Amino acid sequence: MKWFITGANGQLGRCLQQTLESNSIEYAAYSKEEIDITDYSRVNDVIHRVKPDIVVNAAAYTNVDQAEIDQSAANAINHTGVANLANASKLINARFIHFSTDYVFSGESTKPWQVSDATNPVSKYGESKLAGELEVARIYPSNSLVIRTAWLYSPFGKNFYKTMLTKAVNSQEIVRVVNDQIGQPTNANDLAELTVRAISKKALPGIYHGTNSGTCSWFEFAKYIFEIAGEDAARVIPVRSSELTTKVERPKYSVLDNQKWSEIGILPLGPWKDSVQKVLPDIMLSLAK
Ligand SMILES: NC(=O)c1ccc[n+]([C@@H]2O[C@H](COP(=O)([O-])OP(=O)(O)OC[C@H]3O[C@@H](n4cnc5c(N)ncnc54)[C@H](OP(=O)(O)O)[C@@H]3O)[C@@H](O)[C@H]2O)c1
Repeated sequence: MKWFITGANGQLGRCLQQTLESNSIEYAAYSKEEIDITDYSRVNDVIHRVKPDIVVNAAAYTNVDQAEIDQSAANAINHTGVANLANASKLINARFIHFSTDYVFSGESTKPWQVSDATNPVSKYGESKLAGELEVARIYPSNSLVIRTAWLYSPFGKNFYKTMLTKAVNSQEIVRVVNDQIGQPTNANDLAELTVRAISKKALPGIYHGTNSGTCSWFEFAKYIFEIAGEDAARVIPVRSSELTTKVERPKYSVLDNQKWSEIGILPLGPWKDSVQKVLPDIMLSLAK
């Protein structure tokens, strides 16, 4: 079983490689410099040469604020790039796994979003990711998995956890964090392990939700990071989204229902607090680098 990974230097790309390595699964992983997913002929050439059984797209345009300004780049990567990979995977009959986001939903809800709920993104990033999902469903529905995730963190790249931990341990700053957006902090390593489990258990094609369980606001997430780092959590102050100058609207409630995994005999991801705590030493180390 050979895996093929795009976006190898991203958070999820790095965690997938670690997980495959620790499971002794063969893979080939490509950074943006090695394979730009917007370039169909390059994508198709390499996939045809490598002939993987599983193609995983961990590449994405993930800057939510910048996507409002640079919609064409967001669409090229999150829409056209995904279509390129789906088409190339279909030609060699490889399973295709793609990741999407809680931001495909409007956020106007008080109960967890089901995989089948109507989508209605409120940002250009969300629109571009939804367009990618729709391409997978149009081009290669028979052999593709789309896993929607949220609020990802890892020791790699930039993320909210690393930003907050840096403020907690390297400053005495007061930190203002929004308390009116509710979601699920998700450990990219847990998601990588879930992805490998999904393939080994032959999950049926379709859309899945892959987030750690439980819910919190960004404020609660930040407070918890300060607490486990042994820093003064009173330095984290809750604010409303309307009090911040931000370029883009974000869903107010984007909690995803993960029940579908249990229905097919796969253990969903565990509580967000456990995973945040588990990865603290690695994130601490990554800050020192
Ligand atoms: N991060 C989150 O909080 C979050 C939340 C919900 C869903 N997701 C989804 O989860 C998946 C993984 O996210 P992540 O946090 O691991 O993202 P990430 O850390 O931003 O990694 C994405 C990777 O894709 C690369 N890339 C960008 N354009 C590319 C192109 N044209 N061709 C090939 N590679 C390209 C990036 O390279 P450069 O950095 O050099 O541009 C980066 O290495 C994505 O589908 C994302 O939409 C993420």
